[in-house]
Amino acid sequence: MRSQSHRAVISGLLLMTASLAMAQSNAIATGSASAIKGKEIYDARCSACHSVDDNRVGPMHLGVFDRKAGGVKNYRYSDALKKSKIVWNRDNLTAWLANPEMLIPGQRMGYAMDNAQDRDDVVAYLATLKVIK
Ligand code: HEC
Repeated sequence: MRSQSHRAVISGLLLMTASLAMAQSNAIATGSASAIKGKEIYDARCSACHSVDDNRVGPMHLGVFDRKAGGVKNYRYSDALKKSKIVWNRDNLTAWLANPEMLIPGQRMGYAMDNAQDRDDVVAYLATLKVIK
């Protein structure tokens, strides 16, 4: 009995070490994204349709992180985005930019980004657009 619970503790510790190592490599992966580069890309390619604080062809991006997809008031989204249960985070924003239609079929954004580094940079920039309360 005793040695069994001992083993459970050890395997728990091993799991913790493994997830710590994963968290660390994630930090390195996101560390390579540049919000400054992302802003340049945003200004060059997204601002044709979006702005940070106004709804234009696309919805405004202020506070997009942790917001429900289709969640900006006074913007007319597609039904697909309105009905989606997605809450925007780093991973699903990256997937959206790579292929919006794959993530939310029936959506209306006619734009995608091929380059993974560009996507990471733009998402790093979007992460800086927080609403300060
Ligand atoms: C050709 C116009 C166009 C361009 C260029 C464009 N978008 Fe969009 N975007 C849209 C439209 C339209 C929607 C709304 C889609 C819907 O309602 O289905 C949208 C929606 C979004 C959403 C969802 C927001 C929400 O409130 O749920 C994000 C995030 C987004 N765009 C990011 C970007 C980024 C980042 C870029 C540049 C890399 C970009 N878009 C370039 C038109 C565009």
